[in-house]
Amino acid sequence: MTGLTNAQIDLLRQRYGNQVKPEKVIMTPVVEAMLRHKSVRTFLPDALPEGAIETMVAAAQSASTSSALNQWSLVAVTDVALKKEIHDTVAREVKVDRLPWILEAPALLLWVADTSRSAAITRDQGGDPFVLNYLDSFLMASVDATLAAQNASLAAESIGLGIVYLGVMRNIAKELASIINLPEHAFVTFGMALGRPDPSRTSAIRPRPAQPVVLHYNRYNQEDYRDYVEGYEQASQDFRIQQKMSPKTWKGALHNSMTSMEYLGGRKELREMVVEKGFKLL
Ligand SMILES: Cc1cc2nc3c(=O)[nH]c(=O)nc-3n(C[C@H](O)[C@H](O)[C@H](O)COP(=O)(O)O)c2cc1C
Repeated sequence: MTGLTNAQIDLLRQRYGNQVKPEKVIMTPVVEAMLRHKSVRTFLPDALPEGAIETMVAAAQSASTSSALNQWSLVAVTDVALKKEIHDTVAREVKVDRLPWILEAPALLLWVADTSRSAAITRDQGGDPFVLNYLDSFLMASVDATLAAQNASLAAESIGLGIVYLGVMRNIAKELASIINLPEHAFVTFGMALGRPDPSRTSAIRPRPAQPVVLHYNRYNQEDYRDYVEGYEQASQDFRIQQKMSPKTWKGALHNSMTSMEYLGGRKELREMVVEKGFKLL
């Protein structure tokens, strides 16, 4: 790790723990900002800085968008009563202790995979938007919404805000669509709590697996990752101990996620809901 400052080396240490680290990272302010990411689940009651959401949306709209179709939307829930209604609806479905950050955060952003405008503008021109019936259209809009959200989250972090993605919004996909008046051909991919992090309760940077687990050159190597799983397990354990989290192995948590209907929760009805919303997924 030549040419890096101590602070930059420390960032890589936090990202990878004691695992093998990339040797030749080219550090720029943008890369450093990305490496510093951590989900924020404890917020101060402060209002968002003026212009925060507009700044995030400008960043979001600067992400690439499939075929320049702009098939995503953002519903920014800032109304306290509406946010509480969404919180209470989720709380009926999942364990309440996993959700306080929805109430604490001054804004709940709902990132929408949105082909409703494409459908309407096509029909306005006398066309039948049958291409939207295919699975790829759903995937395309979901990818666009995700890229937009990730650009927005980096913008938020760069102005001192913090975020946590909320896939748990899909557990209440149907109710949520009705609460926020979502049109046909639109679907909330995930939520995002947004606010100023409470420095007295912030978490640390969460380690990721060593690069050979996720990086393949030229052809996919199906077995290499096995050499690195125990190292990642150790890094995860170190993180959990440091954060005073309940004892749990990463492999065990993964096993639970892959084998538990409780983990899946309301998301098991997702296909039905998505099809009801007009995505035929052909
Ligand atoms: C699409 C998506 C959905 C997520 N949903 C939730 C969620 O519902 N609740 C939550 O507490 N964290 C959620 N997370 C945050 C992850 O748990 C978190 O990113 C992961 O543990 C890594 O931690 P880090 O973001 O601090 O690096 C989600 C992340 C992503 C990308």
